[in-house]
Amino acid sequence: MSLVEGSSEAAAREVLDPDVWHYVSRGAGGNVSVGEAAGAWRTYRFRPRVLQDVRRVETDLELFGTWRTPIGIAPSAFHQLYTPAGELATAAAAFACGAPMVLSSRTTTRLEDVAAVIQGPWWFQVYVMRDPSITAATVRRARDAGASALVLTGDTPYVGYVPPTGTARPLPLTDELALANVAQHLPHEGVADIWELIDQDAGITVDTIEWLAKESGLPVIVKGILRGDEAIRCVEAGAGGIWVSNHGGRQLDGALPTARALPEVVAAVEGQVPVVVDGGIRSGTDALAALSLGASAVFLGRPVIWGLATDGQAGAERVVDEVTAQLRHAMGLAGATSLAQLDPSLVA
Ligand code: FNR
Repeated sequence: MSLVEGSSEAAAREVLDPDVWHYVSRGAGGNVSVGEAAGAWRTYRFRPRVLQDVRRVETDLELFGTWRTPIGIAPSAFHQLYTPAGELATAAAAFACGAPMVLSSRTTTRLEDVAAVIQGPWWFQVYVMRDPSITAATVRRARDAGASALVLTGDTPYVGYVPPTGTARPLPLTDELALANVAQHLPHEGVADIWELIDQDAGITVDTIEWLAKESGLPVIVKGILRGDEAIRCVEAGAGGIWVSNHGGRQLDGALPTARALPEVVAAVEGQVPVVVDGGIRSGTDALAALSLGASAVFLGRPVIWGLATDGQAGAERVVDEVTAQLRHAMGLAGATSLAQLDPSLVA
């Protein structure tokens, strides 16, 4: 489902290799969470204000950087699966749209090369690897290359359960591509399985927040939060932001839709740190609901991949620009001229 013509889910499905398509679109387990994410935003109804002067509607945002839109690009792995320029195309699209971009730990391009395209701030997503020295070195590289925040993904101690389909083959990725961002930290000999070293560390705790902040000097946003008490635990441990997410339904199947988790998290955090959200956001009105309920920004996962698959940089740009235009239009119809004027009273 997508309101963005030309870069829709259906158009992406037509051009992608079926195994890559399955990798992108699937959730975990029985696909419960992935199936209900978008619909959950559409259960909200708006209570618009009228007779406001809405000739000029702005979407400018300050959030660990200065952006022209609160519609950001969520971290996702291996963009050369979707378009030959990979993450370089994504980064160029983000820069052109003035959108916050989060670069995954698992990229097919070295982070320094991606950063060179952006000419401004960006955020780096962290999976803490079994060998923590690789992660420490990588977050310092990200800081040196201009990252303005880290996003610690907390919901992936290991990868979610995917039932065997009987047909899906391994992704069409060479080791060289899959390891592009970490290759320089890997020993050249004496290690039987390099994948062991870069596997996610299932032993990380809230202490990891402080460790990452110390290693990098950057604010750490914790991604994968669905409960108020968990958000508070992270804030008390030094988190600089909270990212409400169920990983696009790819981790614990049956985890709460983010549209339902967001209000509880916002209420618990009480403005101590910013809260952002992703999962099933497919239109400007979905974004309007999230921003009104207290999110500072919203992030698109699969829709950006659909854009990359259908038309590379231009496709990704079209997706972010279109959802931003829809948001601006919806804000005006709701009587708001800036993000600061969005509040929970707009939503029933
Ligand atoms: C992801 N996501 C993800 N998250 C993360 O922290 N690091 C990563 O490397 C990835 N990789 C990844 C690959 C693919 C193919 C998908 C679909 C998702 C999760 C992502 O950041 C985000 O939470 C969800 O995609 C948001 O939901 P929607 O917009 O896809 O519904």
